[in-house]
Amino acid sequence: MIKKRFYITTPIYYPSAKLHIGHAYCTTLTDVFARYKRMRGFECYFLTGADEHGQKIEKNAASAGKTPQQFVDEIVDGFYKLWELLDISNDDFIRTTQDRHVKVVQDIFSKMLEKGDIYLGKYEGWYCTPCEAFWTDTQVGPDHICPDCGRPVQMAEEEAYFFKTGNYLDSLLKFYDDNPKFLVPESRKNEMINTFIKPGLDDLCVSRTSFSWGIPIRENPKHVIYVWLDALTNYITALGYDSDHPELFKKYWEDPECEIIHILGADITRFHAIYWPMFLESLGLRKPDREFVHGLLMMKDSKMSKSKGNVVDPFPLVERYGVDALRYYLTREVTFGSDGSFSPEQFVERINADLANSFGNLLNRTVSMINKYFDGVIPEYKGDVTAFDGALRTAAESTVRLYESNLDDLKITEAIAAVNDLVSRANKYIDETTPWVLAKEGKIEELASVMNHLANAIFVAAKLYEPVLVKSSPKAFDQLGIDENDRDYEKVYKFGSIGGTKVVKGDQLFPRLDAAIEVEYIQGLMGLRKE
Ligand code: MSP
Repeated sequence: MIKKRFYITTPIYYPSAKLHIGHAYCTTLTDVFARYKRMRGFECYFLTGADEHGQKIEKNAASAGKTPQQFVDEIVDGFYKLWELLDISNDDFIRTTQDRHVKVVQDIFSKMLEKGDIYLGKYEGWYCTPCEAFWTDTQVGPDHICPDCGRPVQMAEEEAYFFKTGNYLDSLLKFYDDNPKFLVPESRKNEMINTFIKPGLDDLCVSRTSFSWGIPIRENPKHVIYVWLDALTNYITALGYDSDHPELFKKYWEDPECEIIHILGADITRFHAIYWPMFLESLGLRKPDREFVHGLLMMKDSKMSKSKGNVVDPFPLVERYGVDALRYYLTREVTFGSDGSFSPEQFVERINADLANSFGNLLNRTVSMINKYFDGVIPEYKGDVTAFDGALRTAAESTVRLYESNLDDLKITEAIAAVNDLVSRANKYIDETTPWVLAKEGKIEELASVMNHLANAIFVAAKLYEPVLVKSSPKAFDQLGIDENDRDYEKVYKFGSIGGTKVVKGDQLFPRLDAAIEVEYIQGLMGLRKE
């Protein structure tokens, strides 16, 4: 079924420390997808937020000499600033300390308790404080190491509430079978089954008494609700589930015409792919259509983490290179779905090669030639005139199809790579048609057709890049003299629709960077510069 609208979410990030480009990676790619869907005329509701409870936050706040609320307020303020800086188009931002969330999580817990899906018992197990997770003997192995973060775990025991996973396990496995596209990439599903389900899935401990920074259980307030039960439900509390304003919930969750997509990092697949569908079933609610698991952005070979001192702060990068450069780098460099690593050399190289030399240069050369040969007016489309016109036009047409099919399937990196190929093709077309020779030989009709084909190819590329290059694509349209009301997406299907407007020469969209200077600058930001 072709769905009419989309609900797309990022994980809600922990305000235990400032966000780094790993978090920016997830939010930016989700934003690209949301902007793409809207550009194509779909309604798309985009949610992100902050996951503010838990022992780690309580501890970090205490060491900073602040109350947990003060502590998270300050850090979350930085989240807002970062998303604004990166031009993130989220419709809402949920904080798990907000009343609209707290009250509903308590209701959800009561419902599960009443239904018998949650019971009171005793927990004994290996606990990893940074990950807020209990692990079994097999999972921690002989060295007692957290399988997620690699840090030592401690034995802990407490009276606790449990969620009966057994009530929903068969149904979950059937759901996986019936919905092969639910969890992608496919390898993630096998990982869930082989690592967590096959060895025997324990009931999930869903309360804590060892700290108090959490949502108290109404029926037994010395317990706080496990941070993952609290956090996962953000996806429905933000829409007004179980509230006096259920309109968004009806529209974006209950209505089967809406496609629900969660984007998340590989580190938190278990919670989203195993427990979240179970919680939803317990509440009698529909499950998401898709969970797209992306890889992690590493620093060379190790995970980016504050404790390792190798995090990259997105703020100075955007300040120096602009929002589009960072958005582009994140989208293009690391294939969405695979792991990748950040390096200053590759950052500079990407911007120079793809944005300055390829796209920026194509626009610049074309606008200059239209000024020189046609007094700045883009000649009208007259069909394919030169021997090379048809190839460029069909390349543009097939790029649109490839871009859409990739993006619809969340293959965002591949979609953008297809646009790059079109830009390279257009640059090659200049070499093939040699406009300066056509001008010299007085072949005006051919020359006009070349300029028109170039302008049309640039329009298609700029339009398809627009969800990523949010500031530069509009500048490219300005330079082509295309009025703001004439930039609709439908034009990408009509090669030749651009023509007759007066170009406006502007600045280079992406000035070429001096690699040696910029690599050193970025290394300095990362604390890697050898003084
Ligand atoms: N609060 C939980 C999520 C709850 S969702 C109901 C959490 N927060 S987190 O801030 O630690 O990480 C959230 C997400 O940030 C990860 O799943 C991942 O999408 C993203 N990333 C964090 N570090 C990252 C990288 N180094 N690289 C890519 N993404 C990274 O887990």
